[in-house]
Amino acid sequence: MHPSLLLLLLLTLIPPLSASSPPPHHSHLTKNRLHLRKSTTPPQEYIEVTRPLPSDSLTPSCTLPVLSHSFGNTINLPPTNTTYSPPRNCTWSRVVLHLSAASNGSQYDRIAAVWLSGAELLRTSTPEPTPEGIFWNVRKDVTRYSSLLRQSNLTLSVMLENIVNDVYTGVYRVNLTFLYYDVAGNGTTYKHSNFALPLISPNRKSTIRKLKDSPPVPPTLKSSLELDENPADLIIPISAIGDEGFWFRIESESDAVYQGIQIPLNTYRAVIEVYVSFHGNDEFWYSNPPDSYIEMNGLPTKRGHGAYREVLVKLDDNVVGSVVPFPVIFTGGINPLFWEPVVSIGAFDLPSYEIELTPFLGLLLDGRVHYFGLGVADAISFWLVDANLHLWLDDNVDKVQAGPIKYNYPSRCVERESEFQQLDGKFEIEGKRETEFSGWVNSTAGNFTTYLWSRLKFENTIKFNKNGTEKDVKQKVKVTNEVKVESASGASISSITVKRKYPLRITTSTLPGSGKDTYLMITKLEHSLEEEKQDGNFESTLDNSQKSSGWMFVQDHDVLSGAATTYQSYDVEDSFGCFTRQVLAENGSIKNETKSFLCARAATS
Ligand SMILES: *[C@@H]1O[C@H](CO)[C@@H](O)[C@H](O)[C@H]1NC(C)=O
Ligand SMILES: *[C@@H]1O[C@H](CO)[C@@H](O)[C@H](O)[C@H]1NC(C)=O
Ligand SMILES: *[C@@H]1O[C@H](CO)[C@@H](O)[C@H](O)[C@H]1NC(C)=O
Ligand SMILES: *[C@@H]1O[C@H](CO)[C@@H](O)[C@H](O)[C@H]1NC(C)=O
Ligand SMILES: *[C@@H]1O[C@H](CO)[C@@H](O)[C@H](O)[C@H]1NC(C)=O
Ligand SMILES: *[C@@H]1O[C@H](CO)[C@@H](O)[C@H](O)[C@H]1NC(C)=O
Ligand SMILES: *[C@@H]1O[C@H](CO)[C@@H](O)[C@H](O)[C@H]1NC(C)=O
Ligand SMILES: *[C@@H]1O[C@H](CO)[C@@H](O)[C@H](O)[C@H]1NC(C)=O
Ligand SMILES: *[C@@H]1O[C@H](CO)[C@@H](O)[C@H](O)[C@H]1NC(C)=O
Ligand SMILES: *[C@@H]1O[C@H](CO)[C@@H](O)[C@H](O)[C@H]1NC(C)=O
Ligand SMILES: *[C@@H]1O[C@H](CO)[C@@H](O)[C@H](O)[C@H]1NC(C)=O
Repeated sequence: MHPSLLLLLLLTLIPPLSASSPPPHHSHLTKNRLHLRKSTTPPQEYIEVTRPLPSDSLTPSCTLPVLSHSFGNTINLPPTNTTYSPPRNCTWSRVVLHLSAASNGSQYDRIAAVWLSGAELLRTSTPEPTPEGIFWNVRKDVTRYSSLLRQSNLTLSVMLENIVNDVYTGVYRVNLTFLYYDVAGNGTTYKHSNFALPLISPNRKSTIRKLKDSPPVPPTLKSSLELDENPADLIIPISAIGDEGFWFRIESESDAVYQGIQIPLNTYRAVIEVYVSFHGNDEFWYSNPPDSYIEMNGLPTKRGHGAYREVLVKLDDNVVGSVVPFPVIFTGGINPLFWEPVVSIGAFDLPSYEIELTPFLGLLLDGRVHYFGLGVADAISFWLVDANLHLWLDDNVDKVQAGPIKYNYPSRCVERESEFQQLDGKFEIEGKRETEFSGWVNSTAGNFTTYLWSRLKFENTIKFNKNGTEKDVKQKVKVTNEVKVESASGASISSITVKRKYPLRITTSTLPGSGKDTYLMITKLEHSLEEEKQDGNFESTLDNSQKSSGWMFVQDHDVLSGAATTYQSYDVEDSFGCFTRQVLAENGSIKNETKSFLCARAATS
């Protein structure tokens, strides 16, 4: 039957406001019995709309296939391991990890990760396969992990748990390959001559601006604070032992995990990089109403505890940084038909979050063990969190000196307002966190002071109308992180400012279906990731947004029929040039796509 006919039929057959109305909460769905595309079609490629990597236009100096594995019924099994050693006799300065995967059958979306020696390199999730088969590719620049990638005989592990039985037949076939590039000399060469993009037109005012009086760069401190441009000398994982994956599973606010680490005494810079994903009852944490609403209405859902969550990074029991993660929606989320074949922002390459810890070297360089902790404020089951500690070492000395200047530990500031009558109501949360830290480090490069400012603001509103059958979720997150390194005389050595905004809006309207455990849901989603970065001399901007709308007819956890449209616009301008891509996907296939290496702003001005 044509889906729109079905919709009309459903609308006329459904008795209004039946008592079997499902709880108006998002859940994790599969398209088990529904396929929008015809069964004669060849396997379809699924994509996350992003830019080509700058290295894609280069020929790798070496290619190293490291793993080829089929993940089938891997639930409760330890990760799959292999031994990693870098290619012999190969000159390289950049590395890309390429994950190529395929599956056919029926399966839920699954979370997966790749670790090297317990340090996470990639957090990814899978699309939901179809009987005709699907495939996808993820390429990530992993140059920041060079210090590990240069070592031999390390354990490379991949975790991807799934259940395979008569109903869920999809086995995930995964290949992992490292591509090594020799990008000679300094980063400038790589940025501007090896990458075949048109040069930026002269009438554009942003993208590349030379600072007026850049001071000479001291020997041990390159000017970029970007991890991929200036990789650390040592990476220490803050992760679990590995039998259930190297991520820590956090099920409540009191599940804080700690790892004692004694860092080398010649460390002159430290950054912690946090990887995080959200699952189970917290998969859609930003849409969870307070417990009081669930209890007073006697709802069966466990997706509650309000919509405030924050990943906290602690050092010896003090919060030194926090992350409100970008709400990545997995391919079974909100309406699985939205993500066919264009997946949600970040679904194939979940962002990691960096927090500068250099101001704390005054505490860390005392030759003692210090405790690095990770926790999730207000968490319910469950979150998968781990981190990598990136350290830069001064080769010329055994010990550098460091001291604190200002530690302004933040306190949590969250305000909540809640108002409801039976199933209708409004819940608001507003929060703010500001931190300011500074400290000096006297290495052979000089006595430099690192200043760190970070500001986080978030707002979340959830509204229920029409006896709880209409839900409207609005969230805004705004983060600014600024790091500045200055010499004793106050001259700027390096600086980086990253501003990120990620607004999200989801509206759903649920109508009960005629069959047992069936319902019809009309779904809308708008979200984006907007980023502005100033790294020393370079400015860059990213604007990545998706708008989706559609409907689905659901029985239990299966989508039986539906239709959906997703429009995505990706627009980046940075030191590699410009790239824009617009994609329109409708009912399971791409209807229109445009790509350009021209600078949009220059073209329109
Ligand atoms: C997608 O499906 C809906 C509902 O069946 C239909 O109205 C719409 O025309 C379809 N779009 C395309 C491009 O096929
Ligand atoms: C390493 O590479 C160089 C240049 O390609 C070549 O001359 C040399 O024989 C190689 N050495 C080994 C051990 O493969
Ligand atoms: C994995 O690699 C093998 C061997 O090269 C190839 O036959 C297979 O098609 C690849 N699978 C995927 C999913 O890329
Ligand atoms: C799907 O996988 C099964 C099992 O590997 C295989 O028998 C079947 O031919 C595959 N179908 C397609 C369309 O690739
Ligand atoms: C790695 O392991 C192999 C086999 O056990 C061994 O021959 C080789 O020397 C090791 N390499 C290093 C760098 O430890
Ligand atoms: C670095 O780049 C600059 C500008 O392109 C060039 O003049 C210089 O020779 C390069 N240095 C090295 C070591 O390649
Ligand atoms: C892979 O390595 C981890 C960490 O050592 C271990 O816990 C796990 O059991 C290993 N996996 C397998 C399949 O042996
Ligand atoms: C700073 O460190 C350098 C190198 O370790 C050392 O020679 C110098 O004495 C230190 N400066 C001061 C003022 O302690
Ligand atoms: C480094 O500079 C800071 C602040 O400018 C100062 O307090 C500290 O004593 C200096 N350290 C050394 C070793 O000179
Ligand atoms: C509202 O929904 C509840 C639960 O589905 C139902 O029991 C109740 O009768 C509904 N109220 C109205 C006024 O329709
Ligand atoms: C495809 O998108 C471009 C740019 O958004 C637009 O100009 C064009 O009309 C679209 N084509 C179709 C067939 O929708």
